[in-house]
Amino acid sequence: MTSKSLVSISDIDKEEMLHLLELSRYFEENPNSKILDGRVVATLFFEPSTRTRLSFETAVNRLGGRVIGFSDANSTSTSKGETLKDTIKMVSNYVDLIVMRHHLEGAARYATEVTSKPIINAGDGANQHPSQTMLDLYSIYKTQGTLENLTITMVGDLKYGRTVHSLLMAMRYFNPTFNFIACDELQMPAEYKKFCIDNGIRFNESTDFSADVINSSDIIYMTRVQRERFTDIMEYERVKDLYRLHNSMLDNSKPTLKILHPLPRVNEIDQDVDDNPKAYYFQQAGNGLFARQAIITRALGIDPLAK
Ligand code: CP
Repeated sequence: MTSKSLVSISDIDKEEMLHLLELSRYFEENPNSKILDGRVVATLFFEPSTRTRLSFETAVNRLGGRVIGFSDANSTSTSKGETLKDTIKMVSNYVDLIVMRHHLEGAARYATEVTSKPIINAGDGANQHPSQTMLDLYSIYKTQGTLENLTITMVGDLKYGRTVHSLLMAMRYFNPTFNFIACDELQMPAEYKKFCIDNGIRFNESTDFSADVINSSDIIYMTRVQRERFTDIMEYERVKDLYRLHNSMLDNSKPTLKILHPLPRVNEIDQDVDDNPKAYYFQQAGNGLFARQAIITRALGIDPLAK
């Protein structure tokens, strides 16, 4: 393996995606090793995070590497006016790999242009979240036994939710049918619907989170309304609680249905769903450790499965 950045899910083809899923399974069976001995990874989080940062850092620690970084840009020289370019160039002097989250769409791609060190995009604005997509794919594969021919219902903030954008693009290899359930203000953006049309992906759009939709789904992917992306807080207040999943809504759903959510959740999944065996969002977050171990080793050109 040569070292490689992961900025968009479209950076990897089907073969590489399936190999990353194999690697994720390998790391689930072998989470602790020393294969990153001597390597240093930076986690630069210009936006808040719990799961993504902590699972990336755990992934490095469990593989014997070391981590530097920050979780609050206000504690860095960014607050004195240092540019993203200068920050990336400086940190590149210290580490072998940079994992970064930034509020600006395209920030991770820009970072690849100012450093030769690999960059992993841990979320750039409303654009992409490719490591989340790899853990979502791994979760879908583990629970359904396949990625092929599934009906996936995406609910909530499909406009600003970067995880649904990345997942939609990744599924192009696996003949999915999508249901997009959102209010008029938070519909799936036109560019992603065009992507579906261009790639022969079936999709239905509705504002109604109906029993028919729930009962025909293999995966329901709930999302949080992304308050931080709204310029008008009154609009956020109007739409934030329009879609809420309750346990009773799952009574006639498929026995194999799984509920996913990238988390954090606010009100969109009632806590009465948590004990339903169809709820998988906490295990999904757990799978993030193994998927990110796979992504980190790919980025550094290390392949424990290589013959
Ligand atoms: N899913 C996700 O990106 O969670 P965090 O914002 O906590 O990293």
